[in-house]
Amino acid sequence: MGEVDIAKEHPNVVRMRVLGAKVVPVSFGARTLKEAVDSAFEAYLVDPENSIYCIGSVVGPHPFPKMVRDFQSVVGLEAREQFLEMTGNLPDNLVACVGGGSNAMGLFSAFIEDPCEMYGVEPGGTGTKLGEHAASLTYGTEGILHGFNSIMLKNDKGEPAAVHSIASGLDYPSVGPEHAYLNSISRTKVGIANDKETIQAFYDLSHYEGIIPALESAHAIAFAMKLAKEKPYESILVNLSGRGDKDIDFVVANYKPEDYL
Ligand SMILES: Cc1ncc(COP(=O)(O)O)c(C=O)c1O
Repeated sequence: MGEVDIAKEHPNVVRMRVLGAKVVPVSFGARTLKEAVDSAFEAYLVDPENSIYCIGSVVGPHPFPKMVRDFQSVVGLEAREQFLEMTGNLPDNLVACVGGGSNAMGLFSAFIEDPCEMYGVEPGGTGTKLGEHAASLTYGTEGILHGFNSIMLKNDKGEPAAVHSIASGLDYPSVGPEHAYLNSISRTKVGIANDKETIQAFYDLSHYEGIIPALESAHAIAFAMKLAKEKPYESILVNLSGRGDKDIDFVVANYKPEDYL
């Protein structure tokens, strides 16, 4: 795990340690998600006989994107069933944040044959210049990273660009290949939420619903709130990919709750 993210998501790191995991800090480059994946690959390649590479997103070489999508599809299948049960209809719109894209692919895969609009929400960060965001589908071009071909944010040397998102889990310069494909055939749409909108959404969901979302998921909430204004008579199913327990220390230290009431 990148050193920057170890500090940002401290409560998660404590939990992992309590449960017996050894958390290895990654101290090169931007010290965030991409470098953590680089290091995990390197460790695996040194000793493939005695180690297992487990990626948590729909990225990496085949068959990881498909495996992770299928594991996450449980969420989509249950959400579809429950939405039908609760409303009698399918949702008009689906919204999920996209880092590598696993929670979005898990949700979308259950609705792919349905007449639902599907929005993958990318992190708009602090601006539109390279290095200020991690919106790969919005601003990227075709490229290869971590053993898969997809859409990637590149620097002028064609290497993975520096990226930024307030959410550690969205801070990645590419997206899973299936997202690139679905976007290329216009089956999915790309939404965007910046850091500022995300913090507001984090507090709004907490204040109004008593649900503290992960900063990643708060991107989906922020975009869904914008979409709701555009489509006031349509239903929106938002994938709340994670709880915000891991993020509260960081958020409260940097963005005071009283400023967002
Ligand atoms: C809570 C949460 N949501 C979303 C993500 C983004 O990953 P993905 O795009 O693969 O769903 C992460 C990544 O760490 C996460 O922790």
